[in-house]
Amino acid sequence: MLSLLATPARIILGAPKQYKVLYARKGTIYGITRGLMHSTSRFNSSTPRDNTTDIFSPPSTPHIKQVETAWVHPVYTTEQMCAVAVGHRNAKNWSDRVALGTVKVLRWGMDRVSGYRHPELGQQHEVKFQMTEKKWLTRFIFLESVAGVPGMVGGMLRHLRSLRGLKRDNGWIETLLEEAYNERMHLLTFLKLAKPGFFMRLLVLGAQGVFFNGFFLSYLISPRTCHRFVGYLEEEAVLTYTRAIHDLETGKLPEWEKLDAPEIAVQYWKMPEGKRKMKDLLMYVRADEAKHGEVNHTFGNLIQASDPNPYASQYKDPTKPHPKKDLTHIKTIGWERDEVI
Ligand SMILES: [Fe+2]
Ligand SMILES: [Fe+2]
Repeated sequence: MLSLLATPARIILGAPKQYKVLYARKGTIYGITRGLMHSTSRFNSSTPRDNTTDIFSPPSTPHIKQVETAWVHPVYTTEQMCAVAVGHRNAKNWSDRVALGTVKVLRWGMDRVSGYRHPELGQQHEVKFQMTEKKWLTRFIFLESVAGVPGMVGGMLRHLRSLRGLKRDNGWIETLLEEAYNERMHLLTFLKLAKPGFFMRLLVLGAQGVFFNGFFLSYLISPRTCHRFVGYLEEEAVLTYTRAIHDLETGKLPEWEKLDAPEIAVQYWKMPEGKRKMKDLLMYVRADEAKHGEVNHTFGNLIQASDPNPYASQYKDPTKPHPKKDLTHIKTIGWERDEVI
């Protein structure tokens, strides 16, 4: 059968629970991927069912089977993820107030763009406050496309500073780039569930242009304020995912109740068997956001030019609680400088 194929094709073989995809062109198989079959009842906004996962495909080259992950995600336990709570660090000085005020303004704009309106007490049942699966995904995709910018800008600027200053960075760059990578994985995961239309793509493009340049200039002026800003932004992200999880738990998002997490998410977070549903996915993403909040609030408490990165440091007394990459000892409002340096 393969010899008849003159154009690139994808053939799916397999038993009900497992699948194997052969990528073939002109009679030659140039790629095979294997995986576990998930439910076909996935939500999508505007994409035909059979096109849902094709927004980005596995590499289609003759020799490469798959691309390896650059950063391995730490393992989170269910108990740790359930313990993640919405936190808020009080603004203590003018720099903090500027950061918090900017986040509030951005949140207001974002709520308008993504059609989100948070109900006051007693307004929960009004139609205009109801969020659907589609509205949540629109919000997540826009949010994550923006969230991947600060870590990359911060990491890039610290990298350049190290090069031109001929001095060490003391571990900040890796953590910042890893944060950007993690945010992009959030985006890629949600893109497996909905394919944005032209208007959404335009918004993402415009937002990136404005936000990248704004954050770049701000980071040159005050990196400390920028980390505080990201800390506050992540508090809002934790709030957003907490509300989505609550909607899911209270039966407002029926299409997500039995929906499996995409394979990309199962692989990235190493989601255990039996914990691979949409709700589990939202719990992982929320925990990541809480971690970003902690990291950036902590960075906002440090002397930018000279302090080492506590998340890349070995401590003299490892038995004492200290910042870690996973959810052990999580402090959503960040570690104070005298606790970690
Ligand atoms: Fe994110
Ligand atoms: Fe985040």
